[in-house]
Amino acid sequence: MYKLIIGNLKMNLRSSVEQEQYSSLFKKELTGKKINNCELILCPPAIHLPGFQKAKIKKIILGAQNMFWEEKGSYTGEISPSMLKNFGCAYVILGHSERRRYFCERDEEVNLKVISALKNGLKPVLCVGESKSEKENNQTLSIITRQVKSALEKVSRTKAENLVIAYEPIWSVGTDEIPKSNEVMEARVLIFKILTGIFGSKYAQKVKIIYGGSVSTSTVKQVCLEPGMDGVLIGRESLTPHEFVKIASLLN
Ligand code: PGA
Repeated sequence: MYKLIIGNLKMNLRSSVEQEQYSSLFKKELTGKKINNCELILCPPAIHLPGFQKAKIKKIILGAQNMFWEEKGSYTGEISPSMLKNFGCAYVILGHSERRRYFCERDEEVNLKVISALKNGLKPVLCVGESKSEKENNQTLSIITRQVKSALEKVSRTKAENLVIAYEPIWSVGTDEIPKSNEVMEARVLIFKILTGIFGSKYAQKVKIIYGGSVSTSTVKQVCLEPGMDGVLIGRESLTPHEFVKIASLLN
């Protein structure tokens, strides 16, 4: 089945020189590789979007790590969906746990962003997942349910095919701790059930459900292949093109 491999470069690549080095390494890694059953998506810091557009890495689709919901105007420091579109983005990560944690993003804001992204022809990669203490208190189900439901409020089912939901347990992001394969599968089933309640099963099936959190060549089987996820969201390992492409080859 067709898989999405999304690299979240976060706040890395501190100069255009680093960006160019990364791009040329990436091109080298892809040379001679047949990756036909995966969509490779890179989400660099927004300032590097023109650099990545110029680099024209074969097979790579661009995405962003965040956006504001308004189209333009007096919103100091923000980037709009149409700007992202005009700089080559097809995807945008929304509601990442680091945005929720460090920038106090609330469910209502994530919802406005999801609606605006879809309206502007961007595919949202909506991140949901529980913290360590929420997991220990058996709140995984209620947290995921709340996050998915509120993010998709007023979203039409006709947009379902453009939606990606990333199950990212917060305790797994950046920690090298990963859930068991059956835990990922349970999250997948739960998310599908919630989506069915919102869109009906025919449309719910069109939503891609992927996994994120400490994905690497050694964990990808357990967190993606075994639980039947539609792809992965990769943080640290996406900073090394060799590892990123290797993960893609394993899912291809
Ligand atoms: P990680 O990050 O792969 O470094 O754990 C994942 C993410 O934040 O999307």
